[in-house]
Amino acid sequence: MATIKSVLHETRVFPPDGGFVQQANLSGMEAYRALCSEAEQDPEGFWGRLAREHILWREPFSRVLDESAHPFFKWFEDGVLNVSFNCLDRHLASQPDKVALIFEADDGRVTRCTYRDLHERVCRLANGLRSLGVASGDRIVIYMPMCIEAVVAMQACARIGVTHSVVFGGFSAKSLHERIRDAGAVAVVTADEQYRGGRTNHLKTAVDEAIALGGLETLRSVVVYRRGPGDIRWEAGRDVWWQDLVGNQEVVCEPEWVGAEHPLFTLYTSGSTGKPKGVQHSSAGYLLGSVLSMKWVFDYKPDDVFWCTADVGWVTGHSYVTYGPLAVGATQVIFEGIPTYPDAGRFWKIIQDHRVTTFYTAPTAIRSLIKNGPDRPKEYDLSSLRLLGSVGEPINPEAWMWYYTVVGQSRCPVVDTWWQTETGSHMIAPLPGAIPLKPGSCTLPLPGIAAAIVDEAGQDIENGKGGFLVIKRPFPYQARTLWGDPERFRDTYFPRELGGYYLAGDSAHRDEDGYFWIMGRADDVLNVSGHRLGTMEIESALVANPLVAEAAVVGRPDDIRGEAIVAFVVLKGERPQGEEAGRIAAELRNWVSREIGPIARPEEIRFGDNLPKTRSGKIMRRLLRTLAQGGEITQDVSTLENPAILEQLKQSAA
Ligand code: PRX
Repeated sequence: MATIKSVLHETRVFPPDGGFVQQANLSGMEAYRALCSEAEQDPEGFWGRLAREHILWREPFSRVLDESAHPFFKWFEDGVLNVSFNCLDRHLASQPDKVALIFEADDGRVTRCTYRDLHERVCRLANGLRSLGVASGDRIVIYMPMCIEAVVAMQACARIGVTHSVVFGGFSAKSLHERIRDAGAVAVVTADEQYRGGRTNHLKTAVDEAIALGGLETLRSVVVYRRGPGDIRWEAGRDVWWQDLVGNQEVVCEPEWVGAEHPLFTLYTSGSTGKPKGVQHSSAGYLLGSVLSMKWVFDYKPDDVFWCTADVGWVTGHSYVTYGPLAVGATQVIFEGIPTYPDAGRFWKIIQDHRVTTFYTAPTAIRSLIKNGPDRPKEYDLSSLRLLGSVGEPINPEAWMWYYTVVGQSRCPVVDTWWQTETGSHMIAPLPGAIPLKPGSCTLPLPGIAAAIVDEAGQDIENGKGGFLVIKRPFPYQARTLWGDPERFRDTYFPRELGGYYLAGDSAHRDEDGYFWIMGRADDVLNVSGHRLGTMEIESALVANPLVAEAAVVGRPDDIRGEAIVAFVVLKGERPQGEEAGRIAAELRNWVSREIGPIARPEEIRFGDNLPKTRSGKIMRRLLRTLAQGGEITQDVSTLENPAILEQLKQSAA
């Protein structure tokens, strides 16, 4: 296997033989630089040109950007469009029989759906939803497995101007309840069952539990896609089977033409404080980002078979399953199962069977597959691959190397894409064919993206030094607000000290070539297996347990998951010892899993009589992080109210 250094050398001049350059949409650094300088010289002209070229407008826009209510930017505001029309109808004349979706179920069954089929299914559901009285401006929560119908549900909402809010199927009933309530949803679209890794999850049961928690006054209907035997609890008048709803509907549905700024979706994500926030995206600006990145970063070609492994419950599944690939007319794979079922060759088999050309996944999946079978990819024919992508967390150079040499057989560029729920689509990523790669770096900002690294006062930091990652100028695909909480949007993302720049929440540095290296979150947000979780959210879940008096949660570096959750807990009663401590820890882990979802389950719980606090009562998380990693405290602890507690918490690791 090549060493990191040699790949670094190789990839610095990548692509070495020009093979990729010839086929790439962007054929060299000059093409990239030309786009960047066009954007710098005339940002509005640049974005306006792209929006006219890449979006089908019902009514053209007359003005590109309105910054007057900074940071509540408006893009292409008087333009009128429909996103679902842009994803489906636009392909009906040119490629009705092209396969849009290849669905592989957990048990290996494969279902294909052409653009014509997909259009018809979306129209039928859209008509069905309208028949329930759902109308433009309403919100619908989608709580679905990863299947064709999840895409249909999102597209159907877009078609009739309904703002969807997808909740990942792994979230608990309680999390679902919070999101339905915050969004004021009039309907939930779900399925009776979800199948992953040979196990069945009962989604409709979770919806029932969420509703039973009460207070969901706006909710009128629950649409249930039937996959299993159908013997589930049923509330007549509220619950309706999807299959019954669409049965007699027309196969065409006139789209709702909406303004460019119409909220296409909200997606809840974790921040460093409070409850998850509903990140709200626009229609036109968001769509533009998804389309451009499909072309620039994924170098989309009509013969591609695209596969993004993300669930539609995350932003990656929005931009690179439901919207981007369909808008460009791609054939894509969607998969309901998990990478290690029935064995660790599953991903490679899917790539082989469906002749996948473009594969996009998370470093955590790559690392777990290395662990479960570093030579497995060699047992499969992966010759169809031409491009690999990574998203969700920093990719360590070792994992990058394996991905590049073993999966990509040293011929497929790896595009490490940095972006966020709030940015809608790729922000910093290599344009294959144009930008030389370096393992572990997401390389350079996309054209038009004014990324920079600054200190607390918003001053630029020189190359080589770490700081806060910011975006200095507005871009069309950024989030517009937080649902129902514009102040929190402004305060979180556009803090005054930074002079109006968008604060991403990550720390990063640039190297001597100007390449960006993301170091991780600069706030109290954890990244566990590429999933974003707020430490406060987990702490609130813990203290909601009647046994718990106080809790502090920190991340510990983890080889596979990136970070693992460690919770320091003070109980209301005596500090538990021995077996009792084990029993209560297990109980609390399950509790968090039920409160938030299994992804938030702490890896480790340590009990103490107290937590390390300053004299003013502030918990010293820095110290807890050191303890969680098993390190020695070398920091100054003189400001600590109770230094002895550190020794106790250290011992409690046993
Ligand atoms: O910390 C960064 C990390 O994931 C965060 C965004 O999480 P989320 O909104 O859930 O979106 C994930 C999918 C886009 C970022 O603040 N992150 C995402 N991509 C990368 C990354 N960190 C390093 N390198 C990446 N390529």
